Amino acid sequence: MSAAPDSQTLDTFIDSELVERFYTKTEDGSALPNVAYTSEAFYQFEQNTVFRKTWVFAMFAHQIENPGDMIPVEVAGQSLVLVKGDDQTIRAFHNVCRHRGARLINEPQQGKKTFVCPNHAWCYDLKGKLRARPHFFGGEKHDINKEEHHRADLTEVRCGTWHDWVFINLDGNAMALEDYLRPVTDQLKDYDFSDLRFGSALEFDLKANWKLAIENFLEPYHVFACHPWLNSFVGMDERQPPTFKDHVLQCGYTFQKTDPARGEGLPYFPNLPVEKKSRGDWFVLFPNFAFEIFPDQLDVFIATPNGFDQCHETIALYFIGDGADSKEYAEGRNTVIQNWLDLNNEDLGIIERMQAGRSSEGFDGGVLSPYWDPASQHFARLIVDSMSDSNYKKPVNSK
Ligand code: FES
Ligand SMILES: [Fe+2]
Repeated sequence: MSAAPDSQTLDTFIDSELVERFYTKTEDGSALPNVAYTSEAFYQFEQNTVFRKTWVFAMFAHQIENPGDMIPVEVAGQSLVLVKGDDQTIRAFHNVCRHRGARLINEPQQGKKTFVCPNHAWCYDLKGKLRARPHFFGGEKHDINKEEHHRADLTEVRCGTWHDWVFINLDGNAMALEDYLRPVTDQLKDYDFSDLRFGSALEFDLKANWKLAIENFLEPYHVFACHPWLNSFVGMDERQPPTFKDHVLQCGYTFQKTDPARGEGLPYFPNLPVEKKSRGDWFVLFPNFAFEIFPDQLDVFIATPNGFDQCHETIALYFIGDGADSKEYAEGRNTVIQNWLDLNNEDLGIIERMQAGRSSEGFDGGVLSPYWDPASQHFARLIVDSMSDSNYKKPVNSK
């Protein structure tokens, strides 16, 4: 059983001297120490803080396509059920019956009108309202939808949908989803998402903490050493370091020439300004939802925690209009998919090596590049800020 959210404090894990180095100049600074990647107790604390306090990706909306479709999902150790209502709204509930606590569903379901608990058949509608309790007052004395008895609706969890991406907020206190997304959506105004369609997903199990996958996704410093094709597409001298503000970390580049893997042969976002036709940008929405956007594709990257030393990566590739499914574009699409597979396979070994390195007494937070690594230092700040009750401290080197 996981510890209660308030039973531990940050200094249980990271001493205050090291925390200070998350806020100082990057050349004197540090990223997260080994404990953040190797401790079950830290992992539980992180689940109970980082993953409860903010918006966290839960599921793709296309997996709950029609009214009555429902799917179980786990976030921060909590089993939830996402369900699409007759009003087309996706809602989230704790996946547990209010009577004696049976889990409501174990597998995705389609086209259901109600939740019926398998234990004593209490029945809830798709908005989570209790509708019937068979034999509740004795044999054949049913509670049938009497308003005064409706004291046991399913426990709803805050839930919001942005395009194909369903987010939940477990503690209910995060800023509005719109506000959480705004720093990114403000930068995407030139991209018309109306015909953006899901194409394909790549799935990977990693023997590494989820943070290593996200940190690696964000920083382009390793490109010259790990990604030969990517380095030939945009060289190191054309790359800028990642930037950050609050919970959004981002990076991007302008490319000189298109490539079949990026920006060539597939339909573009409609009416894209010319400067965006040779542009790639990527964003991390802390904690673990990230995506890249190019003129012809949007690629979502999620690292789902699965224990302190394991995570699951999903890369979901979206294309524009017929680019997503027509035969005409099959070759172009497959080139993009194969490219993502190749790139991620180049990353996996490195990420797992970083996990292995975090068991070493010879490392404990790192020595950082003042040019490339301020964002890694900021990521450490975001983690400890979520874990502490102290107010956000403005970093010395913030942009
Ligand atoms: S536990 Fe669900 S109806 Fe009793
Ligand atoms: Fe990489």
